[in-house]
Amino acid sequence: MSKLSVEHLLGIKYLKETDIDLIFKTADHFKEVINRPIKKVPSLRDITIANLFFENSTRTKLSFELAEKRLSADVINFSAGQSSVKKGETLIDTVNNILAMKVDIVVMRHASVGAGVFLSKHVDAKIINAGDGTHEHPTQALLDSYSIREKLGSVKGKKIVIVGDVLHSRVALSNIFALQLQGAKVKVCGPTTLIPKYISSLGVEVETNLKKALEWCDVANVLRVQHERMDIKYFPSTREYTQLFGINQEILDNLDKKIVIMHPGPINRGVEITSDVADSDQSIILNQVENGVAVRMAAIYLLAQQIKR
Ligand code: CP
Repeated sequence: MSKLSVEHLLGIKYLKETDIDLIFKTADHFKEVINRPIKKVPSLRDITIANLFFENSTRTKLSFELAEKRLSADVINFSAGQSSVKKGETLIDTVNNILAMKVDIVVMRHASVGAGVFLSKHVDAKIINAGDGTHEHPTQALLDSYSIREKLGSVKGKKIVIVGDVLHSRVALSNIFALQLQGAKVKVCGPTTLIPKYISSLGVEVETNLKKALEWCDVANVLRVQHERMDIKYFPSTREYTQLFGINQEILDNLDKKIVIMHPGPINRGVEITSDVADSDQSIILNQVENGVAVRMAAIYLLAQQIKR
C-alpha cells in the first residue's frame, strides 16, 4: 500500500494496521534523511501548513514545526494566547481566516474532545490532530510504537503497561488503539479513580499492583498526573501516589528482567518517575522525542500526497 486509507489524521481509531506500516516505512526513510549533514528534502515546497495550538505544548509543537521545515513546507504558527480568540473569535472563523491565506494542512491541538473531527467537517484543508482534550494524540502513539519497534524489533506480541493517570490521558487511548492494532497486549496500572470505567470494553486489563504490572510487561509507558484537568481530588496526596505508583530504580532492580521505560513528557520528576530512571539506559524517552520528527514528517508527507495541486 502506498496511500493512507484516511483523508485526515484525526485519531488512531480511524487507521488500519496497513496505515501504520506505511507511516513507519516512510518514517524510516525520513529518519535516515534527518541524520544526514543536510537534514532537508524539497518534497513539500508547494505546501503551506498552519500549526494551531489552543493548548500549551513544547514537544509536539516544535516537533511538527521541525518536521514541516525538514520537508521544505511553508509554516505559520498560531498560539491561542496571543490571538484574536482572546477577543471572542470562534474556532471556525479563526481557521477559515487562516485558510483564506491559502493553507493546505492544519495541525491543531485543542482542549475540546472531537475538535479535529469537527474542523475536518467544516473547513477545506487536511487536518492533523495534535491532541484533543482527553481523547486522542495520534502522532504521539505513532512515535511511541515506532520507538518500541526500534528498541525491541517489533510491536507484535509485546506486553505494554500504561502506568498512571489513564483517565485524563489522550496518550493512553491512542496508544491502546495503536498497540492493539499491531498485535501487542496492553494493561493499565494506576489508582482505580484514574482508570476509566470503559477500559475493559477496549480489551485492556487493569492491574492495580505496580510490581505485578512491571513483572508482566516488556515496556512501561509512564504517564504524568494531569493536575490541570482535575477538578476534584483523585488520590489522597502526591506522596501516597508516588509511593504506590511511582517508578524508581529500586523497583526496577528487583525485577528479574530489564524492561523498557517510556514517558510522553512533560515529566514530573520525583512524582511518577525518579530522575535516575528517566535518565537511565532503560529509558527511551529522548529516543521518543527524536523519532517524533521522522514520524510526523511521514504523516504530513503522506497526507500531502492526497492534495490535488
Ligand atoms: N508529549 C506531548 O504531547 O508533549 P507536549 O505537551 O509538550 O507537546
